[in-house]
Amino acid sequence: MTSTTELLDLTAARLAYTPKADREEVQRNYAYDLERFITHSSTTSINPDPEALESVLASVAHALEKGLAVEETRAGFGAGRLPLTMQAVRELESTGHASSITAGARACLRQYVEYHDNLGLTLPEGSEAELRAFVADSPRSAATGGSITLTKREVENATNFDYDEFINTRYSIRHYTGAAVSPSDVELAVSRALKTPRVCNRETRRVYAAYDSDLRDHLLSFHHGNRGFGHKLGAVLIVTSDLRGFDMIGERNQPWIDGGLFAMSLAYAFHAAGLGACMMNWSEDADHDQRLRAEFDIPDNEVIITFLGVGHLPEVFEVAASPRPAVNDVLREVQLR
Ligand SMILES: Cc1cc2nc3c(=O)[nH]c(=O)nc-3n(C[C@H](O)[C@H](O)[C@H](O)COP(=O)(O)O)c2cc1C
Repeated sequence: MTSTTELLDLTAARLAYTPKADREEVQRNYAYDLERFITHSSTTSINPDPEALESVLASVAHALEKGLAVEETRAGFGAGRLPLTMQAVRELESTGHASSITAGARACLRQYVEYHDNLGLTLPEGSEAELRAFVADSPRSAATGGSITLTKREVENATNFDYDEFINTRYSIRHYTGAAVSPSDVELAVSRALKTPRVCNRETRRVYAAYDSDLRDHLLSFHHGNRGFGHKLGAVLIVTSDLRGFDMIGERNQPWIDGGLFAMSLAYAFHAAGLGACMMNWSEDADHDQRLRAEFDIPDNEVIITFLGVGHLPEVFEVAASPRPAVNDVLREVQLR
């Protein structure tokens, strides 16, 4: 009997600890995500927005650059993707949307042709003339595209530092001096975090920064989970992911994956710069998400991944120990059923 009483108490305590939702409420919230995914992605119909086309171009050009980067490259690989790549570049450039993605696609096609020519391989028959004309029309630029060469030595040299010390001194920081974080510190961290993997090389990550302390406090008045340290943050960032970059139902959760990986890189980038950072959840329901959007200019086509607080470290400070499990609690070898 004692154990039943304890169990009931524990359940009541758990119910009181986190807000509960009934099935309808869960469905309403999923419907909110679903509606925005359908509206802004190109899953059920093509989104004509140039951002969506840019994403397709990044993806299709990436398929070609992957072909140049694998061990066994076939002559004429990716032939079916060439016309779409060229047409997307032309369309974006002619409508004033030239970017690193269009430049990268041009560089990739140049390398595609050079690769074939250097090895005496035949270009895909139906596309050869158009491809050669397109490349002849592409100014040689410093744009990165196609494949690049890296050596094992370069990787060894770059990783010759104490990685354990680096990661083991990164904690979610909840003590700050209160000094402002400069936009240039944030720019550096964001530029480093841009190196984070992303699906098919499509750029859907976005960051909104609040530097001013009044703006920070107003923003944080919408956030649950910053008590005790929010007012000392040097800047608050909102990491989002742009739904226009996605075009398959299988990608319905991809914004959170790409955005989450990016947010982690940002936290490491701040750590590398000697600044403290703390992820700050946006685990909010549809109503609260809309309240924030009504107040700040986060576009409807972006999902909010997380807030991230950043600030200057005091000389000595406490951090939550946040114990971790043993590796074998997490790591399993996959088994056949
Ligand atoms: C997506 C996400 C949201 C988080 N939100 C908050 C938050 O709102 N407030 C907070 O103090 N910590 C927040 N954290 C920090 C976690 O509590 C912390 O990462 C965890 O305890 C591990 O500790 P460590 O980061 O110091 O290693 C969040 C972490 C993640 C990944």
